[in-house]
Amino acid sequence: MPEHASEKFIDELRADSNIVEVISDYVQLKKQGRNYLGLCPFHNEKSPSFSVSPDKQIFRCFGCGKGGNVITFIMEVEGVPFYEAIRILADKSGIALPQGMATSKQQSLSEEAQAILDANEWLAKLYHHLIKHTKEGSVGYQYLKDRGITDEIMDAFQLGYAPDVENFTASFLEKKGFHPQTMVKAGLLSHQKDHIYKDRFRGRVIFPIRNHQGKTVAFGGRILNQGEPKYLNSPETEIFHKGKIFFNFDLARNHIRKQGEAILFEGYLDVISAYQAGIKNGVATLGTSLTESQARLMRRYVDTVIICYDADRAGIEATNKAAKILQNVGCYVKIAKLKQGMDPDDYIKEYGNESFKNHVIDASVTYMSFYLDYLKKDYNLQVESDQMQYVEKALDEIAKLPKPFERDHYLKELEMNFHISMDTLHQEIDIRRRKFDKQKDNQETPRHTNIRHNPMVEKVYPAFQNAERRLIALMIKNRNIAERVQDEIGGSFLITEHQVIVTYLYAYYEEGHEPDISRFIEYLPESDLKNIIANIAMIAIPDDVSDQEIIDYINAVKQEHTKKNELQVLEKEQKEAEKQNNPILAAQIAMKILNIKKEWKLN
Ligand code: CTP
Ligand code: MN
Repeated sequence: MPEHASEKFIDELRADSNIVEVISDYVQLKKQGRNYLGLCPFHNEKSPSFSVSPDKQIFRCFGCGKGGNVITFIMEVEGVPFYEAIRILADKSGIALPQGMATSKQQSLSEEAQAILDANEWLAKLYHHLIKHTKEGSVGYQYLKDRGITDEIMDAFQLGYAPDVENFTASFLEKKGFHPQTMVKAGLLSHQKDHIYKDRFRGRVIFPIRNHQGKTVAFGGRILNQGEPKYLNSPETEIFHKGKIFFNFDLARNHIRKQGEAILFEGYLDVISAYQAGIKNGVATLGTSLTESQARLMRRYVDTVIICYDADRAGIEATNKAAKILQNVGCYVKIAKLKQGMDPDDYIKEYGNESFKNHVIDASVTYMSFYLDYLKKDYNLQVESDQMQYVEKALDEIAKLPKPFERDHYLKELEMNFHISMDTLHQEIDIRRRKFDKQKDNQETPRHTNIRHNPMVEKVYPAFQNAERRLIALMIKNRNIAERVQDEIGGSFLITEHQVIVTYLYAYYEEGHEPDISRFIEYLPESDLKNIIANIAMIAIPDDVSDQEIIDYINAVKQEHTKKNELQVLEKEQKEAEKQNNPILAAQIAMKILNIKKEWKLN
């Protein structure tokens, strides 16, 4: 294997990477006590059960059980093998990779996907070069200039132009050794006839679409003048799933984090114009409506999302839909309003950067305020019966607001606009809220089984399991304790996984390593074991543990061992019963055996 990074390099990398910072690139973390909490990126959840410990440099999800150190986090979240994770981490921390590792390819991708990625990278560079420096690209350049895009922004987004020149791109790609059929699959070339291939994007201004690692996974191409389709996008491929990424997410990510807010646009040029206007926390979907998966991605980073879609019929419908999806995953949604018929790009051009910031983005309204307006489209509010229907609908929505003062705020609006007394409005709200309560009750039956699942509360383990867990927690913190346990009980932990973990732990210390949970996690070969040890390491253990406590734990484990002898006796009895043709007795004994064994399993 050419991919060899020395142990020393990996140790340094781990030590230099702050797990809280690294994970913050993917999850919005909030400090809570010594640890940080956020929404788990590995399973869907609305309340946070994902915990990161800066002291121990490990993470752990109390909901789904995933746990590990900074390297395993990258492996899991990016879905990449160990060495690719090392590469990503080194990149994030600005550490140079050792020779030999720097150039090798991402291994997790199929050959075809890798080829598409490479071709995209070449073409992005080529198109960008063409638009900036060549005669063939000058129409594209002029187009963007006319739309007010500066050179600097063209560079930042690697905007380009695909010239309308016969055979140009196809022969470029062929010379680089790319297979034309693969390029057709990637949507870069289209097959004309026989062996003739053409640039699918020819004659279009090119918007590279990067994934969150900044790799160009697709293109959007805009036609220069009138014509259909206005935008042409790359097809779905192994590396490009429209419903899972955002345009500009890689550049926006840090700004989104810092500001605690993201802005969602409809168009590429909206994002780019806003960026040029100094609003850099903007992203856009890729010509499709917002998906739940995108909403969840967003939710991991921020609480608040401002939707800034086009102010036309379609845009307003899409706003309502996107708002619902975002709220469903727990985002707080605000709506930025534009003048009728405009899109953000138009607005900035017409009224300037300052006005866009102050009068559109900063003036964005609550979802409810937007909705009360949106709802009006279905009614002719000059007519009394329509007015009443409108109020009914509005009340349905207002009743859902959890806070009384919020509800009152909108009720007052109804009072003013429709001259209905607050008393009446309150009565209407009460009726609706009682209905909700009833519905909720029905959903929550049967009551006694409805033990609220709180992932932050430690599970209750059988006493000896608890003893084993606490012992291990102490052993990974303190080498002397580990040696003492080794002397007294060696590897005789009852839980098989614990047995394996302590065996590795003894070896780890024997090799001369210092206590370091994050490092030890890496030492373990399987992700199951990593999850378990991350869970154990999160147990809050005081620094000064008494001798007696350790003795108690060891004894608890030893005592459980006596059950092993019991088990042997039972197994003999069972055989005997079978021999004597007494199936009932045999079954009774089998039950006993099962119950003992069940306790010795992790659950
Ligand atoms: N879109 C698309 N295919 C089309 C039209 C639009 O994929 N045929 C996507 C593009 O991502 C585009 C977004 O939908 O950026 C918004 O569409 P639209 O509002 O029509 O485009 P604008 O962003 O306003 O583009 P322009 O200002 O260039 O007209
Ligand atoms: Mn638009």
